[in-house]
Amino acid sequence: MRKNIVAGNWKMNTSVVEGEALIQGILERMQEVPSSVQLVVAPPFTHLVPAAAALRGSSVALSAQNCADQLKGAYTGEVAAPMIAGIGCQYVILGHSERREYYGETSQTLVRKIDLALAEGLKPIYCVGEKLEEREANRHFEVVEAQIREVLFHLTPEQFAQVVIAYEPVWAIGTGKTATAEQAQEIHAFIRKTIADQFGQTAADEVSILYGGSCKPSNAKELFACPDIDGGLIGGAALKAEDFIGIAVSF
Ligand code: 13P
Repeated sequence: MRKNIVAGNWKMNTSVVEGEALIQGILERMQEVPSSVQLVVAPPFTHLVPAAAALRGSSVALSAQNCADQLKGAYTGEVAAPMIAGIGCQYVILGHSERREYYGETSQTLVRKIDLALAEGLKPIYCVGEKLEEREANRHFEVVEAQIREVLFHLTPEQFAQVVIAYEPVWAIGTGKTATAEQAQEIHAFIRKTIADQFGQTAADEVSILYGGSCKPSNAKELFACPDIDGGLIGGAALKAEDFIGIAVSF
């Protein structure tokens, strides 16, 4: 059956030293976390090597926040999937709305990133989600369906089995405005049906679909109680060990 996952997307926050302290804080409280919950941390690139060393021997997995859409070569400033996999990352976040919005990531770019990540044995945490005006126009289902179809539908069932999906409504990210459990469950169920139609019911039953957007200890329980919400992709609340663990114990 599918995994429950709580993943912390640190975004562009913390110094290396602060990051190490955050990881220590998480490790010290791991005994509180049910063994059925997979914790993942996604620090900035500069932190990944020391983070991999700090996490060795623990059950916390390491993720990058992005990877290049090219394998190697003259791409100044980019970090390639083999580099990320080579230092011990198991996951990579792809298609975050901030990357789509501020760095012009398109479905075309994301197809290349997903393929390169999978070729290196990385598990993509593929983010989807509508903007406020799209929800207000009642277009959220079609927007999310297109984001999934355009980037994931070319995968083989074996490749798709490695993918985690994160639904993050853009209007709920960093705004303090969480989707209600009903709103989140409704679209998570729709995402699972979209997957079932393309990859079959077993694949749909096995894919973990995470909710992201102002998730915190006080609302995680209600969200995680929904049948199609398998965990969270956490931003702001992942920057404090107490809050991150507070969310992880909400299953
Ligand atoms: P917040 O939890 O800060 O709203 O961010 C969510 C997010 O974007 C995680 O990727």
